[in-house]
Amino acid sequence: MAEHIKKFMTEEEVTNKIKELGLLISKDYEGKEVHIVCVLKGASFFACELAKRIAVPVTIDFMSVSSYGAGTESSGHVKIIKDLDEPLEGKNVLLVEDIIDSGRTLSHLIELLKSRNPNSIELCTLLDKPERRVVEVDVKYVGFQVPDLFVVGYGLDYDQRYRNLPYIGVVEFDEEK
Ligand code: IMP
Ligand code: MG
Repeated sequence: MAEHIKKFMTEEEVTNKIKELGLLISKDYEGKEVHIVCVLKGASFFACELAKRIAVPVTIDFMSVSSYGAGTESSGHVKIIKDLDEPLEGKNVLLVEDIIDSGRTLSHLIELLKSRNPNSIELCTLLDKPERRVVEVDVKYVGFQVPDLFVVGYGLDYDQRYRNLPYIGVVEFDEEK
C-alpha cells in the first residue's frame, strides 16, 4: 500500500525543544559529566543533536537491541545485538530514546543498565505516547507528548524509511484506486 507523510511538527519546533532539553539537562548535571547511552538506530539523530546542546562534559555510547516477539507488539525481552563499548560503573547515565510506546523494551533495558552499577540513570525521550503505555517507566525528560499516531522522521522509521526527515511526520495510507 502506498503512503504519504503529513507534516506534524516542524524542524524548528523540534530544534527549539532540543535546545530547551539541553539547557535543562545542563542545569541538572552542573559540575558533573553526562554519559549518553543511545539506542540504535532511531534515537541516534536525537541523541547527537541533544549532545550538542549540553554544556557539561558529555560522553556517548551506543547499543542496539531487539525485542523478541512477532508483529508490532514488542515483548520487552531485550536481546542485545550490539552492546556498549564502555562500562557504566560510576557514570551518570542518560538513556536517550526516540519514542516511548508500550514501555516494554525500555523498562527491561533500564533494569539491564542498572545492573551495571551506574552512579545514576535517567531517561530522556524525544517523543512519548502515554496513551499506549503498558509498562510504567519513569521518564525524566520528555520532548513532546504525542497522540496514538504512527510518526516518522528525526530518526523514526516506517519500514526503515523516513529516518532522514528533518521534521516529524505522520504516516497516512493512500486509498487504493
Ligand atoms: P515499546 O515502548 O517497547 O513498545 O517500543 C518502542 C519502540 O517502538 C520505539 O523505540 C520505536 O522503535 C518503535 N515505535 C513505537 N512507536 C513508533 C512510531 O510511532 N513510529 C516509529 N517507531 C515507533
Ligand atoms: Mg527505538
